[in-house]
Amino acid sequence: MSQLFEALSFTRGPEMKNRFMLAPLTNLQSHIDGVLSNEEYKWLTMRAEGGFGLTMTCAAHVQAIGQGFPGQLGVFSDKHLEGLSRLATQIKAQDSVAICQLHHAGMRSPADIIGTIPVCPSAEEKTGARALTTAEAQELVSDFITAAMRAEAAGFDGVEIHGAHGYILCQFFSADINKRDDQYGGSLENRSRVFFEIIAGIRARCRQDFMVGVRLSPERFGMKLDETTEVAQRLMIEGNIDFLDMSLWDVFKEPEEEDKQGRSLLSYFTELERNGVRLGIAGKIRTPEEAEKALAGGVDWVMLGRAAILHHDFPNQYQTNPDFTPVKLPASKEHLSNEGLSPKFLEYMGSWPGFIAEEETA
Ligand SMILES: Cc1cc2nc3c(=O)[nH]c(=O)nc-3n(C[C@H](O)[C@H](O)[C@H](O)COP(=O)(O)O)c2cc1C
Repeated sequence: MSQLFEALSFTRGPEMKNRFMLAPLTNLQSHIDGVLSNEEYKWLTMRAEGGFGLTMTCAAHVQAIGQGFPGQLGVFSDKHLEGLSRLATQIKAQDSVAICQLHHAGMRSPADIIGTIPVCPSAEEKTGARALTTAEAQELVSDFITAAMRAEAAGFDGVEIHGAHGYILCQFFSADINKRDDQYGGSLENRSRVFFEIIAGIRARCRQDFMVGVRLSPERFGMKLDETTEVAQRLMIEGNIDFLDMSLWDVFKEPEEEDKQGRSLLSYFTELERNGVRLGIAGKIRTPEEAEKALAGGVDWVMLGRAAILHHDFPNQYQTNPDFTPVKLPASKEHLSNEGLSPKFLEYMGSWPGFIAEEETA
């Protein structure tokens, strides 16, 4: 049997029945106020039914001003509790670990969605974002913690802190973006302080076996590989998290930084000491062979994004048929709506080049 179907335990929380995680995938299907819709419930619970050992929500914003997308799932108010609870209950009923991704878009929040100018660790000309005061930065930390408590109350097994892709925690981390001179800016320790304060707060306020994961991306938005590996190592050594999710966009690529080339980007993370923290990756894992190859690269689990949009039951299909071959891109709208994508999600996927087949005009 493939190692992908071996169970995986964590320091805290339930084990995964296999090594497949569903990537956090923004799908624009929530109601305008961030309340879960039936469409989003269907799309996610189908993936839990399809055999993913862990099902993660899309990025869910922890403050209204941190909304990054229209129709984004919210976790910033108690009005979201009922929907989140319905979702967590059904994911867990399918024997899938239920994780809510906590997010704040910072300067990447569109002003026309949030109705005001966006916030950032430092004022940013291009987006017109204003700098957070120290008190506001502390409030941000505390709102991530409150959102984790809300996810816990809703019945999730844990949360993932979205520190990747140029959103607010990544904006703090990035020396290019963060020009602060208080305790949240300057040295690497200061720029990464938000992560460690959020994690400590969740550990203090949530139940002991509540799972915490962190997502980082080591490239773009001013991220430096050396700094990312240093923080990744500290996160694992301190052991207050249960999994580290490295978003590489291509798990087989080499680093962009020239002096780091000659070996895979992934290898810079697999060589770190894990101290029981489970390491996984996302990026262009499209077929069972690529999932096998990624796992053989030395990680504990693999994450599927677009491959899981194409097949809600990728894990189950591969488990029952070793020759399972996913459909080729571009996919038809009909295939995708049978896979549980509502018209809103279909429209969004139309903005991802090459994903959806053009319909023939008569
Ligand atoms: C439609 C779409 C929505 C995404 N939304 C999120 C998100 O909400 N949070 C996040 O951390 N990453 C998000 N990502 C990145 C994915 O989680 C994943 O890391 C990336 O797509 C690479 O994996 P893949 O090649 O298997 O799709 C998104 C990607 C896609 C394609």
